[in-house]
Amino acid sequence: MTAPAGFREHPAFLDGAAQRALLTDIRAVVADAPFFRPEMPRTGRPMSVEMTSCGAVGWVSDRTGGYRYQLTHPVIGKPWPRMPDSIVAIWRAVAGDPRLPDACLVNHYAPAAKMGLHRDEDEQDFTAPVVSISLGDDCRFRIGGLERGGPTRSLRLTSGDVVVLGGASRLAYHGVDRIYPGTSTLLRDWFPEGGRINLTLRRAT
Ligand code: SIN
Ligand code: FE2
Repeated sequence: MTAPAGFREHPAFLDGAAQRALLTDIRAVVADAPFFRPEMPRTGRPMSVEMTSCGAVGWVSDRTGGYRYQLTHPVIGKPWPRMPDSIVAIWRAVAGDPRLPDACLVNHYAPAAKMGLHRDEDEQDFTAPVVSISLGDDCRFRIGGLERGGPTRSLRLTSGDVVVLGGASRLAYHGVDRIYPGTSTLLRDWFPEGGRINLTLRRAT
């Protein structure tokens, strides 16, 4: 299957130095806005990823409130940290949209974490793309079409890769099947067991 139109891959977009600089900025974000573990709506089942955000709004999910964007961190109650320039610069380079992102979700995948197929559909406007940045261990990313249960394709994402879900692919189903532990040393000082960080930049409001 070929991914829907508008899906763009930028392999090795960030070199090693750029990945390390970005990671320094992400660690500062997480120092201000610690990772929390979101819950599935209704069941309250914890997700296997932990997450936080920077930017004007952040994505959260819990049993009673469901998926949503909000202005404050759900645990510490403070506004999200501002989005580092290093992150906005990547959007400017690949998004093809002069408007800037107002939300950057920071996902941390421990070696056994994954993310089921879903669409990013909690934003108010789907004309802007989603820009996704991978750091740390490789993963198997899966992208399908606009219908749940349709054909999908998998690709391996490596630290420094950037993908863009724009155009028709903006509402494509996607997810992360698995992490390949031990494939990168980038996060070694932070998470000795390995894992992956993913940033997804969006215009939510
Ligand atoms: C997401 O869909 O929010 C994350 C995708 C990824 O981790 O690559
Ligand atoms: Fe997503």
